[in-house]
Amino acid sequence: MGAPDVASVLDLTDPAVMADPYAALAAARAIAPVAWHSGLGMYVATSQATCNAVLRDRALGRIFQPRQPDTEDVWETFNWLHADSILDSEPPKHTRLRRLIAGAFGRGHVQRLAPRIAELTDGLIANCARAIDELGEVDIIAELAEPLPVLVIAELLGFPESDLHLLRPWSQAIVRMYEVSRTPPEEAAAQAASREFAEYVEGLASDRAAHPGDDLLSDLVAARDGSDRLSPRELVATAVLLLNAGHEASVNGFGNGLASLLASTAYTSGSWPSQTDWDATTLVEEMLRHDSPLQLFERTATMPTTIGEVALEPGDKIAALLGAANRDPEVFAEPDIFDPTRDPNPHLAFGLGIHFCVGAPLARLELATSISALLRRWPHLQVVRAERRPTFVLRGYERLIVAPA
Ligand code: HEM
Repeated sequence: MGAPDVASVLDLTDPAVMADPYAALAAARAIAPVAWHSGLGMYVATSQATCNAVLRDRALGRIFQPRQPDTEDVWETFNWLHADSILDSEPPKHTRLRRLIAGAFGRGHVQRLAPRIAELTDGLIANCARAIDELGEVDIIAELAEPLPVLVIAELLGFPESDLHLLRPWSQAIVRMYEVSRTPPEEAAAQAASREFAEYVEGLASDRAAHPGDDLLSDLVAARDGSDRLSPRELVATAVLLLNAGHEASVNGFGNGLASLLASTAYTSGSWPSQTDWDATTLVEEMLRHDSPLQLFERTATMPTTIGEVALEPGDKIAALLGAANRDPEVFAEPDIFDPTRDPNPHLAFGLGIHFCVGAPLARLELATSISALLRRWPHLQVVRAERRPTFVLRGYERLIVAPA
């Protein structure tokens, strides 16, 4: 094993590292751009250049490893929800699945959603105002960061509004399995959520087969029943992935980015410019770079390859540490500083290569719309209380209570 072991400087189960991983990520980067992590049992890429290489190298694939069945196959639904999804497949299956959904999330299509996203945001800002009037503060996760992407992705897929409250708990239970450590009750919750979610979407798809609408689920049902070769499980796995991926990172991206902005010298120094002076598009990229909502993506070598100076053999695993890439001083001047005007900003928060986030145009539009509306209404906010979730891979706040300063 040629690469140095960074497990002791980067303990991803340490609560202090989960609370703020950036010093540990910098320490690991200073040791090697590609290191071994004995705690994870895989290599880790810690620089922008090596993360870039991991995400682009076609000798490295997203190979889903099914969870082991015990007496009965409790993981069955969880396993096929992943194995049959676009995110956990490689070409040619990946190409076929991605083609089916790429159109719906293309920039032009997404731009047509702008008025609806603005309308939903206005309603949520009104709720925030009510909370501030009554309590003097608002939980921005519960009132804005979470409901906006949930409402938007649900509308796109035609998920019934009356059952919206089911989405986040199902998604949260499933994504808990992507963390470095997990408990038996969390595993049982993920298994149950997978079964319930899949069953629900199967029911919804049958309904759409009988009564097609103008939503994306109806389009996927038409693809399943037409010549596009979408199997029944691929249909459900794709819809579940879109519903999950379509809100989880956006919620956390907004919360993390807002907290970074409010703590920055640019914001607190008193010279925070008026609405007309800053550009929401540029601000959103810095929100995603400075405290990325997704921190670790794993790949498995399917043939021999080299990342940095480390040779990988088939079966070897390597993780791209996106938070480390996005704070790499080789690429970003003063990377720990939140600079709302940073441009260019070649962060990797949306990944790269064939799995590059298909929802990036939608996420960017939602984030730009909601942060603009929030700062227009309350140009000076402060954090009253912040409660982080004790996780590393999906980084976000459980609660982020803010108040006008
Ligand atoms: C701030 C919000 C978001 C962030 C930071 C984010 C980040 C990412 C990243 C890093 C990947 C690549 C994973 C890998 O390489 O293994 C990805 C893939 C994906 N994202 Fe997002 N995402 C966001 C929002 C969304 C939204 C709104 C959607 C809704 C459609 C979405 C749907 C997907 C899908 C379907 C994939 C898999 C693409 C593929 O495998 O070809 N994401 N996302």
